[in-house]
Amino acid sequence: MKKIVIASVVGSIAFLNGANFNEEAEKDRKALIAYFEKKFADKKNAALYFPYTPKEELENNFRWGIKWEEFRLGSYAFNKTGRAQYEEMNEFPPYEDNIEAGKELYEKTKFKSGKSFKDCFPDPAIAGDYPKYIKGKGVVTLGGAINNCLVENGEKPWNMNKGKMADLQAYFAATSREKGKKINIVIDSKEAAEAYARGKKAYYSQRGYLKLSCATCHVQGAGQRVRNEYMSPLLGHVTHFPVYRLKWEALGTLERRVKGCNKDQGETPHKPGSQWMNELAYFMAYMSNGLPVDGPDIRK
Ligand code: HEC
Repeated sequence: MKKIVIASVVGSIAFLNGANFNEEAEKDRKALIAYFEKKFADKKNAALYFPYTPKEELENNFRWGIKWEEFRLGSYAFNKTGRAQYEEMNEFPPYEDNIEAGKELYEKTKFKSGKSFKDCFPDPAIAGDYPKYIKGKGVVTLGGAINNCLVENGEKPWNMNKGKMADLQAYFAATSREKGKKINIVIDSKEAAEAYARGKKAYYSQRGYLKLSCATCHVQGAGQRVRNEYMSPLLGHVTHFPVYRLKWEALGTLERRVKGCNKDQGETPHKPGSQWMNELAYFMAYMSNGLPVDGPDIRK
């Protein structure tokens, strides 16, 4: 009885404050965690979730019993050989210079206006706070916020995929990781909730001539192989960007990675900074809410 009373009081306070604009998103996030924890709980469920994976592979190359926080490691959370290679690559992280370069950009860039990045971002440990819904601007990613800062101070915007943009984000991410920051995406208005819903729809819509959705590969398909690569789960996807990819031989942003997947699914890539890309990133980031910021990182 007591429990019911408390629940209804808490419920009505939330209602009065309008504090439950994230209700749908919270439900989605919890369902996603439950799905992935179950999928990778035990090899007993494997036949249900991995009907096309050879039994031998499931027995020898998979780790089971994976918990929420480990999903930030992408496919290295469950793939034993991949994990071993990952640990080896991380012994001499190739992104250290990028963090240094990003720190320089943060501390030394002087804008035409006389201001600097420190005026826009007094605290650099903000990698987990973006994308944000901002009234009048819509969803703004970290890259978008950096470019807004440049443009508002009379500078040209940067390429959202790589170069200086990735370096500065690497510094923000590394500082956030050092301070133990978590992904902390806020949905606190009707407009923000609508942007989230559009991002989610984009994630689950089949597109391109192959008629694949992001979810085909990164929800239902996560843990299965395409050629030689295991597909990673949506849960944890945004935690570790920017990423140094061996294929790129460079650091790249989340936008750059999504662009590549757009191409793989037979679709003309969406532009970084477009409403589509920003809202997709908003949805993806909310799914990782509460996980530690863990960028920059390495991927093949
Ligand atoms: C045909 C399957 C397929 C589709 C469809 C697809 N991807 Fe991917 N994606 C991959 C593969 C393969 C990789 C590399 C292995 C992995 O998942 O880490 C990858 C990697 C990624 C990564 C990097 C993961 C990490 O750990 O750093 C992100 C982020 C990502 N995809 C997002 C998306 C988004 C967003 C969409 C929809 C716009 C999408 N993908 C559509 C196959 C796909």
